[in-house]
Amino acid sequence: MANLAINHINKRFGSLTVLKDINIAIEDGEFLVLVGPSGCGKSTLLSIIAGLDDHTSGSITIDGKSVQGLEPKERDIAMVFQSYALYPAMTVEQNIGFSLEMSKMPKPERLERVGKVADLLQIRHLLKRRPGQLSGGQRQRVAMGRALVREPKIFLFDEPLSNLDAKLRVEMRTEIKKLHQRLGATIVYVTHDQIEAMTMATRIAVMKDGILQQFGTPEDIYDRPANVFVATFMGSPPMNLLPAVVVDGSQNLSIRGADAILPLPSLAAAGVTEGKEVLLGLRPEWLSLASADTTNPTLDVYVEVVEPTGPDIFVASKSGERDIMARLPTGSQIRVGEKARFSVDLSKAVLFDAETGAAI
Ligand SMILES: Nc1ncnc2c1ncn2[C@@H]1O[C@H](COP(=O)(O)OP(=O)(O)O)[C@@H](O)[C@H]1O
Ligand SMILES: [Mg+2]
Repeated sequence: MANLAINHINKRFGSLTVLKDINIAIEDGEFLVLVGPSGCGKSTLLSIIAGLDDHTSGSITIDGKSVQGLEPKERDIAMVFQSYALYPAMTVEQNIGFSLEMSKMPKPERLERVGKVADLLQIRHLLKRRPGQLSGGQRQRVAMGRALVREPKIFLFDEPLSNLDAKLRVEMRTEIKKLHQRLGATIVYVTHDQIEAMTMATRIAVMKDGILQQFGTPEDIYDRPANVFVATFMGSPPMNLLPAVVVDGSQNLSIRGADAILPLPSLAAAGVTEGKEVLLGLRPEWLSLASADTTNPTLDVYVEVVEPTGPDIFVASKSGERDIMARLPTGSQIRVGEKARFSVDLSKAVLFDAETGAAI
C-alpha cells in the first residue's frame, strides 16, 4: 500500500498534447477514479503511472519517491485491463499464479497465495477450470486475482467492467468496492461511467481534453462542481443550467427565456453584481411539486414528458422556452400536457459565470 502523487504531468504524442499539467495526490488506501469522456487522456495517464508509457514532463512519486526511470515491474504496481487476456491453455490456478511462478516463488507458497486470493474473490471452486469454461464475470474475477496475488503497492484498473452486461457490471462494482474495503489497497480506477465514479471513489478526478477539471470527493464533485462541464457530465439526468441575469440590486435572478424571477442563491451572492450574466445550476432532485402554502421560490412549467424509473419519475418540462428536468417521487400527481408548479430548493443551487463556465 502506498500514497501516490502525480505532479505537473504533461504528455505529447508528436504535436498533439494529450495531458496538460495534471496534478493529483492521494493518500494510502484511497480509491481514486479518473473519469471523463473517451479520448480525454485517462488511459494515457494510467500507463504513465504504470511505467508503460513515458511522460513529456513532470513526475510521479509513490510513497514520496520518484519512480522516474523505473521499469513497470520495478514499480510494484498491478494493472487490470478491460480486455483481460487470460492464458487460454492454463487453468485458473495457473493463470493467477503465473507471475509468482515467473518470480520463482516455491510451489507450496505459491499455491497458498493463489488459494487465499481465490477465497477472497470466491472462485476457489473454479481453480481447475480453463478460461473457456468461465462466464464473463468469472473471467473478470480471475483477471483481478492475477493482480491481487502479487500484493502490489498500487492497483490500476482501466475500464475493467466495460465488457460486462449492465447487471453484472453493477454486481462487480460492489465486489470491487468490498475488496477495496477489505484490503485497504490504494487503487486508481479509470472509467467513462460517471455512476461508477460516484459510487466507488474516495476521490474523483474529472478530466476533459487532457485537462483536469476538478479533483475532489464524490460529494464535492456532485454538490459543488467547479464548472459547467463537471456539472453536466456528473449526474443523470444532468443538472439544469438556466441562463439568467442578476437584477434588483443583486437580490434576484431573472431567468432568460422564462417568465421567472428567483432569489439569488445565498451560496453565490457574494461573488456577483447587478447585470452579471450567469447560469443557474439546479439538480433535478432540487425541484419538487409545490404545495399551495409553500414558502420556497417556485417555477411554473408545462409538462412535456413523464418517465417513470421505478423509485422516481423524471419530468421533462418547459418554463417559457427553457427546458427543465425534475426528479419527483413515484406517485407524484403530474400529467403530460398540463401545467405544474415546482418548488425550488435553492440552498444547494450553483451559479456559473455565463462567459467562462466556471463556478462562482
Ligand atoms: N500512441 C499514441 N499515439 C498518438 N496518439 C495517441 C496514442 N495513444 C493515445 N493517443 C491519443 O491521446 C488521446 C488520449 O487517449 P486515451 O488516453 O486513450 O484516452 P481515454 O483513455 O480517456 O479514452 C486521444 O486523443 C488518443 O487518440
Ligand atoms: Mg481509455
